[in-house]
Amino acid sequence: MQIVILSSSNCVAEYGAALFIDQLAAKPDSVLGLATGSTPLALYQLLIAACQQQRVSFASAKTFNLDEYLGLAGEHPQSYRYFMQQHLFNHIDISPENTAVPDGAAVDPVAACARYEQQIADAGGIDLQLLGVGRNGHIGFNEPSSGLYSRTRIKTLTPATIADNSRFFSAGEYQPHLSITMGIGTILDAKKVVLLATGVSKAGAVKAMVEGPLTAACPASALQLHQQAIIVLDEAAASELTDIDFYRHIERENQALHNRLRQQ
Ligand code: F6R
Repeated sequence: MQIVILSSSNCVAEYGAALFIDQLAAKPDSVLGLATGSTPLALYQLLIAACQQQRVSFASAKTFNLDEYLGLAGEHPQSYRYFMQQHLFNHIDISPENTAVPDGAAVDPVAACARYEQQIADAGGIDLQLLGVGRNGHIGFNEPSSGLYSRTRIKTLTPATIADNSRFFSAGEYQPHLSITMGIGTILDAKKVVLLATGVSKAGAVKAMVEGPLTAACPASALQLHQQAIIVLDEAAASELTDIDFYRHIERENQALHNRLRQQ
C-alpha cells in the first residue's frame, strides 16, 4: 500500500484526478472502475473540467461502476446509474455504451451479476479502480464479513450503511436494503486501485484498513494484498494512523526518487 497524506480534501481530489488523467494519457482505451458517494464528487468535477479543456479524453475509455441498489432502475434519481450520469457521464466525451453500472432492475439479478463479471473480463479487466471507504470499512457494497475473494453478487446492506446513505433519500422514500456489488476479489483483480478518504468520520476505517489485521471484518483491509493500491487521505482521515510519520517519510523518499529519475 502506498499511503499519501495531503493537507486538504481538495488536494486529495486533485491527486486522484491526476492519476486518471495520467492513466488515460498513457492508455486512451483504459478500462476505469468508478465509485459513487460524496468522496469522488470533487474528483469528477476536476475530470469534467479537464475534459472540457481537452486535457483528457474518455472517447476510447470504458467504465464499470462498483455497485448499484437492487430494485432501482437507472432512471431513479437515487440510483447509482443516475448519479453517474448527473455527476460525470453527461459532461464528458464518453460513449454511453461504454459506461456500465450493475443493473438494479434486472429480472434475474443473479444472472446479471455473472454477466457483469463477464463484461469486465471481456473488456480486458480494470486498469484503474477508484474506491471510497465506508465508516465500517466497506468497499463497494462489500460489508463487513464479505468474502475476501468474492465476485460480483447480491449483498445485504448493514443498518449502519443504510443509515449513512439515508441522507440521499427524502423522508418516506423507499430506500433499498439490497445491492449488486463487485466483489472484493473483483476489486483486487484491478491492475491499480486508488482509494480516497477524507474527513475525521473515516479515520477509524482508515486505521483498520492500513494498520489493522487482514480481516473480513474490515473489507478494505483486503487492499493490503494488492500490489498497486494507493490510499490518498486528508489529514483528518489520516488522524488515527499510528505510523503516520513513517508514511510521510516514505512519500518524501518516493518524491525524491521520482524527481531524480525525471532529471536523468
Ligand atoms: C459507492 C461505494 C461506497 C462508498 C462508501 C463511501 O459506489 O462504493 O463504498 O465509496 O460508502 O461513501 P462516501 O464517499 O459517501 O462517504
